[in-house]
Amino acid sequence: MRTIEWDVNKQYLKIIDQRQLPEKFEYINLDNYKAVAEAIRSMAVRGAPAIGVTAAYGLVLAGFQSSATNPNDLFTDLQTAAKVLEDARPTAVNLPWALKRMLATVSNSDGTVLNLQQTLLQEADAMAEEDIQVNKAIAAHGAALIEDGDTIIHHCNTGALATVDWGTALGVIRFAFEQGKHIHVLVDETRPRLQGARLTAWELTQLGIPFDIICDNAAGYFLSTAQVQKVFFGADRVAANGDVANKIGSYMLALAANDNHIPVYSVFPTSTVDLSIQNGKQILIEEREQDEVLALTLKGRRVTPEGASARNPAFDVTPARLISAYITELGIVEQPFSTKFTEYLQKIED
Ligand code: MRU
Repeated sequence: MRTIEWDVNKQYLKIIDQRQLPEKFEYINLDNYKAVAEAIRSMAVRGAPAIGVTAAYGLVLAGFQSSATNPNDLFTDLQTAAKVLEDARPTAVNLPWALKRMLATVSNSDGTVLNLQQTLLQEADAMAEEDIQVNKAIAAHGAALIEDGDTIIHHCNTGALATVDWGTALGVIRFAFEQGKHIHVLVDETRPRLQGARLTAWELTQLGIPFDIICDNAAGYFLSTAQVQKVFFGADRVAANGDVANKIGSYMLALAANDNHIPVYSVFPTSTVDLSIQNGKQILIEEREQDEVLALTLKGRRVTPEGASARNPAFDVTPARLISAYITELGIVEQPFSTKFTEYLQKIED
């Protein structure tokens, strides 16, 4: 299953429409960069690595759409498109990371407009392939932390759907399961968009990994009654000091896990680290429309009173002190981080 695929013959991007899952498994075709930006904004595609690669293909489409007759004008059109794509969702750094990489590829290449359009496509394809390989490397490192018989709380969706394929935190769980370890996953439903109840539960069903869905607010109960050995989640942006912005609810989960001495693992590709951000307080947190909270229906009936208002931050920041280890394609870094995290980040810069 690939979340994102370029159709070579038709020259458009195909993505799984995650808004329809688990009811319907449907691809949608995106043939211009504005449609790509809208698919990211409306979360037809979501998950930090997946939106990065999707945005990269958005720039491929912008390149093909451009009427520029020389490389300079093409670059100007690409910059305009990159701004629209970047504004689609502000928190996951993979989005600007991918766009910057695409623009750099063009500015470092010579050739005609036609050549540069092909260069863009090659770069986006390379990024998509790298994402899969990086996820598999992450999974191989991380699986060593999982023991036979573990029950793991997992937050949001970090599986194949959140990436091009394979996944990050859920990819680690999958790898360990395929090694023959007996694992049980407690799937946080992940209000308000229910990425856990809808998407993670769907992926675990496909993979045959045993799980139970739990309400987000049940995590503390399971953690405090010795029913859980580990907590796994992903990341949308990691600051230079190791603070992790991830799906709303991650912070409360990490607090409850720490209070019960249960290790918390944050799993992400190094493209999710933002060295320009010193600490989590500087990370811009996306606040989404109120209706994602208010329009909840139970048995077809809206549960909130007419006229009620809501706040809907999509992410929160878990301070580095609450994270037991980070798992990336470079390996595992465990607490205490003081010097090690800096050395580790150095490797990313090199
Ligand atoms: O709002 P979403 O669904 O895009 O949020 C996704 C998450 O927070 C994931 O945990 C994160 O992107 C890591 S996914 C590999």
